[in-house]
Amino acid sequence: MAAPGENLRINGERLWDALMEMAKIGPGVAGGNNRQTVTDEDGEGRALFQKWCEAAGLTMGLDTMGNMFARREGTDPDALPVYVGSHLDTQPTGGKYDGVLGVLGGLEIIRTLNDLDIKTRHPIVVTNWTNEEGTRYAPAMLASGVFAGVHEQDWAYAREDADGKAFGDELERIGWKGDEEVGARKMHAFFELHIEQGPILEAEGKDIGVVTHGQGLSWTQVTITGKESHTGSTPMPMRKNAGLGMAKVLGLVDEIAWWHKPDAVGAAGHIEVYPNSRNVIPGKAVFTVDFRSPKLEVIQDMEARLRKGAQAICDEMGLGIEFEKVGGFDPVEFDAGCVTAVRNAAERLGYSHRNIISGAGHDACWINRVAPTAMVMCPCVDGLSHNEAEEISREWATAGAEVLLHAVVETAEVVG
Ligand code: GLV
Ligand code: MN
Ligand code: MN
Repeated sequence: MAAPGENLRINGERLWDALMEMAKIGPGVAGGNNRQTVTDEDGEGRALFQKWCEAAGLTMGLDTMGNMFARREGTDPDALPVYVGSHLDTQPTGGKYDGVLGVLGGLEIIRTLNDLDIKTRHPIVVTNWTNEEGTRYAPAMLASGVFAGVHEQDWAYAREDADGKAFGDELERIGWKGDEEVGARKMHAFFELHIEQGPILEAEGKDIGVVTHGQGLSWTQVTITGKESHTGSTPMPMRKNAGLGMAKVLGLVDEIAWWHKPDAVGAAGHIEVYPNSRNVIPGKAVFTVDFRSPKLEVIQDMEARLRKGAQAICDEMGLGIEFEKVGGFDPVEFDAGCVTAVRNAAERLGYSHRNIISGAGHDACWINRVAPTAMVMCPCVDGLSHNEAEEISREWATAGAEVLLHAVVETAEVVG
């Protein structure tokens, strides 16, 4: 099959306009977005995406986890579809591009193929995966994880947010729980376009990251129990300060990640103390330790050091401690054939590129288990993401979507 010509390009203005239009839904407080999963805003974003897909002649499928699948037919009824996509949900203080670029970049390639009347043998399906971010409901990549058979659907439905609302109930409430059996679809391949969310591509002046691997992740929720008492009248020796226990464990988390430098990172982004009142010594602290590394043995070692070290800290202080693993996946190696398709696309289009390991988790990390998968990355300003100030240039977005287009078209096989 002949590769698509280097003059096959997307409409960068149209892609940018779609990104800006979507960003109007669930605006943040500082120029970004708060469109958290299975909220009313998520529902609104989905409806807009569906409207655009239907206008582009696509047929929408919706599974029982709320994953959306917009299909453009191929010429061969027996050929499995090539999937593209990412997620439309955001962090509470998220940017306009994390996830959204991968979904709307997928829509843009369909619009381009329609404009040019290009037919492919394999159908192409643009996907919006539910709850990639994992903020409201841990773990991240919840619905792609159920799709890939990593999590049970009933377990996912029962996940609760901070207000005790179950994921399944909220998905139903916003009207996006479908009938299609999750995970029943078979894929010829899956490609995800995403911003890097790190500083490497911009620093090296590269247009494209050819993602060969994804680093692994481990989320451990830690609950430390002490005793609530008056901050003024409780003598120092009598205190059971769960907040202080947490502070010491957080120091340990940082030390553990540094110990494994440069192959590891660690932090706790979610922390809560109870009752969170100025003049009450915290009786309980709950926080989630996020460790990541491209090496499985490093992740395992960090988890073991955390459990041992945190237990010792709490024993010494007379505090109780419990650990619960609430998310994680092993380091990922993407499919060699799909990775080559991405690299060839960047070459053909004349974009500078380098191989890269994804620092963040992505739906592609789970889908890689059930289909040949690869990712395309484009730079983001100062490597900043999970921040409302997250920014990319139109040129970067265009280059990323064009590489996605070529990788997909080559894999889906142009007819005629
Ligand atoms: C997903 O956004 C992650 O936590 O990497
Ligand atoms: Mn993302
Ligand atoms: Mn994210």
